[in-house]
Amino acid sequence: MLDTAKNLLTPSRRSDVPPFIVMDVMAAAAQREAQGSRVVHMEVGQPAAAAPRTALAAAQAALANGRIRYTETLGIPSLRARIGRHYGERYGLELDPARVAVTTGSSGGFILAFLALFEPGDRVALANPGYPPYRHILSALGCEPVLIDTSAETRWALTPEALLAEHRQKPLAGLVVASPANPTGTMMTAEALGALIAAAEGAGIKMISDEIYHGLDYAFRAETAARLSERALVINSFSKYFCMTGWRIGWMVVPESLVRTIDRLQGNLAISVPTLAQIAAEAAFDGREEMEAVKHGYEENRRILTEGLPKAGLDKFLPVDGAFYLYADVARFADDSLDFAKRMLSEAGVAATPGIDFDPVNGRHFLRFCYAGSAQEMHEAVARIGHWLKP
Ligand SMILES: Cc1ncc(COP(=O)(O)O)c(C=O)c1O
Repeated sequence: MLDTAKNLLTPSRRSDVPPFIVMDVMAAAAQREAQGSRVVHMEVGQPAAAAPRTALAAAQAALANGRIRYTETLGIPSLRARIGRHYGERYGLELDPARVAVTTGSSGGFILAFLALFEPGDRVALANPGYPPYRHILSALGCEPVLIDTSAETRWALTPEALLAEHRQKPLAGLVVASPANPTGTMMTAEALGALIAAAEGAGIKMISDEIYHGLDYAFRAETAARLSERALVINSFSKYFCMTGWRIGWMVVPESLVRTIDRLQGNLAISVPTLAQIAAEAAFDGREEMEAVKHGYEENRRILTEGLPKAGLDKFLPVDGAFYLYADVARFADDSLDFAKRMLSEAGVAATPGIDFDPVNGRHFLRFCYAGSAQEMHEAVARIGHWLKP
């Protein structure tokens, strides 16, 4: 091919983001199933349950009505008001719905938040291990993700000391935290989150709080950054607690002075968020009882795993505080958790995600199990792993 023609097809350097390794595990699991073997799926971080019946009924009624139009860029006003009310109900916080922006999942929220807050070249701190798209979206936008290692001493969360030490080395523009976190499933106490926000704000570091797993907290109640600071930008989603991953709908709580910025960005990037999903999301708040039952299912799954896995041989894992993840240390069995995950899939029929997706260095010693399936699947996974590890 001529050099000029080749050039036409050269992707930008910034688009060179790594893929999700979990996709490779999924493909291998699907192949095994196609060959007729049973697989217990614990690799993908999504609820097995459907969206609340109230949400499905509202969407069906809207569809039957015919035309689905664009909505206001920041979301249907009644949905923004309902989300505002949610903060009163759940956190006792009076929130002006004018600060709520509806987004295309929390994933859409990250792009808006990073564009609104950061310049190319800005350094943004992230807890390591952590959710990979934070760093990949940041680097695609020309920012520099700065991974700060966490450890058992701090319940695997960023601390003010670690943040400020990094900031002194080279200034940080922002930080992203998640509690409950993915992949660790650990949570920050309200005090720990408050101290981190205070330290960040004192140093001029902009704070983004990913609260997508709120509602799925078992160890203690998750605190929202919105209650701790009006300057923090909060990102949330209907994907996890409300079991609406495929609907692609989430929201942000935006500092007042940034609302218009987010409005202009979203107007240009997306015009508005899918209307049907917004209608369903508003009705999802009426399906709370159903979702609480799903949450109780996760609690039972958590109990089955935390009691069963140690007996099966996997006895080292992080505190299983929230979300639906258990992050297990498998260093005793393998130096490479990708290899361990492949063997566990082919020899025991259990699919989990190797930690290198979430932590390029130490992740090779960890596996993430998602426990959003059924109790029967959890029992089966424990039995299969036990049988496999104990010859
Ligand atoms: C920590 C965290 N944040 C954000 C997301 C993105 O979710 P969504 O775009 O569906 O809201 C996920 C998905 O797994 C996640 O684990």
